[in-house]
Amino acid sequence: MTSPLFRTKNVEQSILDTEEPEHALKKSLSALDLTVFGVGVIIGTGIFVLTGTVAKNNAGPAVALAFLVAGVVCALAAICYAEFASTVPVAGSAYTFSYASLGELPAWIIGWDLVLEFALGTAVVAVGWSGYIHSLLDNAGWRLPAALGTRDGAEGFGFDILAAALVLVLTCILVLGMKLSARVTSIVVAIKVTVVLVVIVAGAFFITADNYDPFVPQAQPVPAGDNLAAPLIQLMFGWAPANFGVMGVFTAASVVFFAFIGFDIVATAAEETRNPQRDMPRGILGSLFICTVLYVAVSLVVTGMQKYTQLSVDAPLADAFKATGHPWFAGFISFGAAVGLTVVCMILLLGQTRVFFAMSRDGLLPRFFSRVHPRFKTPHRPTILLGVVIAVLAGFTPLNELAALVNIGTLFAFVIVAISVIILRRTRPDLHRAFRAPLVPFLPILSIAASLWLMLNLPAETWLRFAVWMVLGFVVYFLYGRNHSRLSRGAGVRPGEPLEPSGPGSP
Ligand code: ALA
Repeated sequence: MTSPLFRTKNVEQSILDTEEPEHALKKSLSALDLTVFGVGVIIGTGIFVLTGTVAKNNAGPAVALAFLVAGVVCALAAICYAEFASTVPVAGSAYTFSYASLGELPAWIIGWDLVLEFALGTAVVAVGWSGYIHSLLDNAGWRLPAALGTRDGAEGFGFDILAAALVLVLTCILVLGMKLSARVTSIVVAIKVTVVLVVIVAGAFFITADNYDPFVPQAQPVPAGDNLAAPLIQLMFGWAPANFGVMGVFTAASVVFFAFIGFDIVATAAEETRNPQRDMPRGILGSLFICTVLYVAVSLVVTGMQKYTQLSVDAPLADAFKATGHPWFAGFISFGAAVGLTVVCMILLLGQTRVFFAMSRDGLLPRFFSRVHPRFKTPHRPTILLGVVIAVLAGFTPLNELAALVNIGTLFAFVIVAISVIILRRTRPDLHRAFRAPLVPFLPILSIAASLWLMLNLPAETWLRFAVWMVLGFVVYFLYGRNHSRLSRGAGVRPGEPLEPSGPGSP
């Protein structure tokens, strides 16, 4: 692979880059901070909002199985992520890892893909948060004009003012510094986990066994409609599109997968971790495990409290308590959900700016974005730019289709990471790996297959939108990144540290 498109960034060079004072982030996070970050971003709109929709439309009580399937797919990917994060402890997540293994073009593709995942993910969660706040305001008898509410199902022109305001406030917090946001995060994560535990423990007393019958509802054909809305796999094989049944569980898994997004963001904070070699795998796998257990428990409880056909799609956890005659619990849950979603939004925004920062530091995006703030030591420029763009996006856009787009982007990143694990083991067997994935290449191959399977269960139109975004990425790379890349100019090369395989050039 001697083409410039596949020039790889030397791993040692990646680590050295992070030590340039002008481009260095503070190394202040511990394994506990990372786990808190992980749980903080993972539990969110997925469990608080999507559980109801998916149980009602795709899987019935078997939504618990869907969470399990999605959890297994994520666990496989997490093991690959953990190996990479512990080998290449620099900012950028899958982007940086791919740069050190697959080459510049694949790295660009994955970075561009992650920008999509995090930006739209932030917007989705901000809008979900806004919905909960509206519901709380309703309880208190206050109501904003419809034109300033969420755009999901709304008619006419409007702007979701609360969602946009949330993104802007969080942008300011992130600009002020990592430590501040980590402290805020810890408190909010505690509230969120408490709410989830209350749902599980209190809800368990209101379960009616009849609600679990049938656990996996029989497959039902969906009325003929827009083909593009059907899962790609059903179109590929000419199956009649159907909901429920065994295939319904997989469709559900490809949707509730959103609930797991975020553990990969733990890896984006590698550069800000005190001991990434030891703490990264602990942070990633630990937070993923905790969330999987909580999700399965919550979905079993909620579908046991209320018949799946009756579940609400807006606030299913709270409404299940209302349905069993406990509105006080419902209010408490709504409040906790709103608080919890705040932090999910913040961490997605953080992951987003860190990927953008790393791409800019490598010259694939303008270097202007990678100068850290002299006082706060944060990448304030990409944070502010992206914060404003996402605020506008969150203000104008409905949720549903965005969530599917986030999922496909993330699953695609999983595929690339798993491929990178295999390649890097061959090309750089010498690198120290604090955490080694077992059964390589079998396990990464399984991870690739599992991620692709969920991708195929997403609607065809989601694939089309994803293709458009990626084509745009190619255009940007060939018009800008390829010529401005630091590797193309040999910048930052230390004596005795030639870049591979293109070799050092003039700065
Ligand atoms: N996993 C996060 C959520 O469910 C993104 O909101």
